[in-house]
Amino acid sequence: MYIVTLPGGLGMAGLENSNSVPSASAQQGWGSSLGFILAAAGSAIGLGNLWGLTYRIALGGGMAFLVLYLVAVVLLGFPLLLAELVLGRHTRRSPVLATVAVGGPSWRFLGWLFLLSSTLILGYYAVITGWVGRALLAVLQGHLPTDQAGADAFFLQLSGGWAEGVAYGLVLALTAAVVATGVQRGIERLSRWSMPALLVLLMGLLLWSASRAGASASYAEVLLQWRWCDWLDPRILRQAFSQAFFSLGLGSGAMLAYASHLGQGDPLPRQAAIITALDTGVGLLAVLIVVPLMGPVVNGGYGAVGALFVAIPLGFASLGNAGPLLMAAFFFLAAIAAITSAVALLEVPVAVVMDRLGWGRARTAWSTVAVVALLGLPALLSTDLLMASHDLFGGVVLIGSGLLLSLLMGWVAPQQVRQDLSQLPPPLLRGVMLTLRWVAPLLLGGVFALSCVEIIQPKISLWL
Ligand code: PFF
Repeated sequence: MYIVTLPGGLGMAGLENSNSVPSASAQQGWGSSLGFILAAAGSAIGLGNLWGLTYRIALGGGMAFLVLYLVAVVLLGFPLLLAELVLGRHTRRSPVLATVAVGGPSWRFLGWLFLLSSTLILGYYAVITGWVGRALLAVLQGHLPTDQAGADAFFLQLSGGWAEGVAYGLVLALTAAVVATGVQRGIERLSRWSMPALLVLLMGLLLWSASRAGASASYAEVLLQWRWCDWLDPRILRQAFSQAFFSLGLGSGAMLAYASHLGQGDPLPRQAAIITALDTGVGLLAVLIVVPLMGPVVNGGYGAVGALFVAIPLGFASLGNAGPLLMAAFFFLAAIAAITSAVALLEVPVAVVMDRLGWGRARTAWSTVAVVALLGLPALLSTDLLMASHDLFGGVVLIGSGLLLSLLMGWVAPQQVRQDLSQLPPPLLRGVMLTLRWVAPLLLGGVFALSCVEIIQPKISLWL
């Protein structure tokens, strides 16, 4: 048993007592189980679903990518989500205190890794969210590019100039305002209207997109791409696993922080299943919406993020009169999804700072967001740095934290997992434990090594 010291000198016995007093950051609870599910789904559903999945499928892999992604979600995503929820709910502490509570001081670095990844991801995520907001504004003002050159200029305009900085600041301010308002009155209230609105808009866009002439041919061309060599391509394997992690928001401590506000009665397995299903379902719906719209520009060297702002407006522009309205709906949807994800990312450093410094929520939210704004400046100033941050923090670091999380919960604290997931049917519980102990460490270790090689190799070739 480890002794956790809370601010104010309150020493607390760690995990034997699962009803232990929550730390300062975790004292506010969710209003209801549904509120938590919607907030956690809001954290998971973001730009990664609305665009990242389609982009990666289209760029290479097609069917192989899709299948590997789904395998990664079911085989690793779901058990690791459960592990993160157990860690948060059982300890009822912010990410750094939670890892120490179950693993002792030597696991503190995992908590710091959560803090690092969530803060740095938020820095560049807010830049892209600012672009989404500006794209929405542009279409509402009737500026829709109609050809390739116009679309290139559209993206350059969104991602440059002083207005980009203003949009970035506004996104961060909005995110801080929601977090500062509180768990129930801020985060939960936002998710309660925004998630249903997002699902309705998504369904509407899907009905329209799937019924377009040529939609089935596009699906066949992109989704049914089949090459045997794709199945063994380490790049596709790595991308599929990274996509699953980023999309579910695993390895950043966000789910842990959200789960620290849960009560002991909440059925974690059911909640995790619904969150995983919603996140994956929205990703697949977005694929079905975007594929018929997408042109060859996806391979045009803009990177995932740039292509969103080039391919999608061009696709909508080709629809004639309905184009602007549909594009406004799409970017509005993307803005909602991005803000709820940004809120979850900010909750991690806010919870850590509240517990370490003993500050109130509002003061912590505004001070933390100021630090995030500074750390995100490189991504604001250079799209290349933005993409590099995404590869490093949204890819390699998340996979690395996931690997450590599986070791912590599978080997150091298996009794907490068994106790908190006792509602699971025994064979499923055994499957979760087997995954946390063996499958996840081995697979994630391999993917982590592949990612490091992929990042380091080009640098070495440059030297040679
Ligand atoms: N899951 C979000 C997306 O797909 O865009 C991104 C994200 C949110 C990553 C929250 C990490 C996180 F903690």
